[in-house]
Amino acid sequence: MNVSSPDTIRQELEQSRALVDAELERILPPEQEYPSSIHKAMRYSVFAGGKRLRPTLCLEAGRLFGGDEAVLLRVGSALELIHTYSLIHDDLPALDNDDLRRGKPTSHVVFGEATAILAGDALLTLAFEVIAHAGVQAGDGFAARTLRVLDELAHAIGTKKGMVGGQVVDLESSDTTGDAARLEYIHSAKTGAFIRAALRSGAILTPASPDDLARITAYGEKIGLAFQIADDLLDVLGSQAELGKTIGKDEQQHKATYPAIHGIEASKRIAARLVEEACDVLQPYGERANVLQGIAQYIVGRKQ
Ligand code: IPE
Ligand code: IPE
Ligand code: MG
Ligand code: MG
Ligand code: MG
Repeated sequence: MNVSSPDTIRQELEQSRALVDAELERILPPEQEYPSSIHKAMRYSVFAGGKRLRPTLCLEAGRLFGGDEAVLLRVGSALELIHTYSLIHDDLPALDNDDLRRGKPTSHVVFGEATAILAGDALLTLAFEVIAHAGVQAGDGFAARTLRVLDELAHAIGTKKGMVGGQVVDLESSDTTGDAARLEYIHSAKTGAFIRAALRSGAILTPASPDDLARITAYGEKIGLAFQIADDLLDVLGSQAELGKTIGKDEQQHKATYPAIHGIEASKRIAARLVEEACDVLQPYGERANVLQGIAQYIVGRKQ
């Protein structure tokens, strides 16, 4: 396999982050716009940092099949709004009660709980507005594709094997004895489903053939789960300064995690195997898949 080098991938992610940040700047209401307190809070969390991984996956999946760059960037950037909403709410005192995110104090610490909840709501709503608006503005063929993307995303972040469902089972699983099947459900739902949907959205917009979509879906499922296993490992082995999040929280809160249930070494092996399988799925594309294969490896090798 001829995967891009880690340096090439880091450059690729850097370029994509710059594109996404500029698009988010165009999408988000200015801080001064009335009512300013909510716009300030929305911008604070979006621009606090972040790898912009989900927008990058949407872009790269679309690029693989020759998609329209401007459309992919707009929809990909909307995904970052959804992601940031999920982080703000995940950090709330009623959920993980975290005070550090993206290297900065969390939204509720800076703006208070009420504004943090509303900032999350507003980002989620804005994301759907941005995507729907892109569909309304474009021609008929494209409108149907955006509708499919909206359907895809709503499902992926909902309660049936989606992000909210995974978050609920995550919260209900604290202080329980290990159950590997439930753990896989939590991780695939709370994190994997949205990552998979980010990739599928890029492919749907392009549009990709059913075979191509199936391959992107299989790749997404594997890297989505691997991503959350890596996140669990970083909570144990990572550095707070590099990660920008509090370390050791999962153990403190008795969370159901891969290291807690499978141990550190087995978790690393499971994540590495998922990445290998994800890369294999994209073999038919040859060198065109180098970036997505490199991102799969980056996901488990990252420190951030
Ligand atoms: C953190 O996601 C939340 C999880 C789903 C594990 P990221 O690690 O992608 O966070 P940012 O966007 O880079 O801050
Ligand atoms: C959260 O998982 C996944 C989300 C849907 C936000 P975690 O609770 O492990 O994410 P971090 O470690 O706080 O980023
Ligand atoms: Mg959580
Ligand atoms: Mg958390
Ligand atoms: Mg975590």
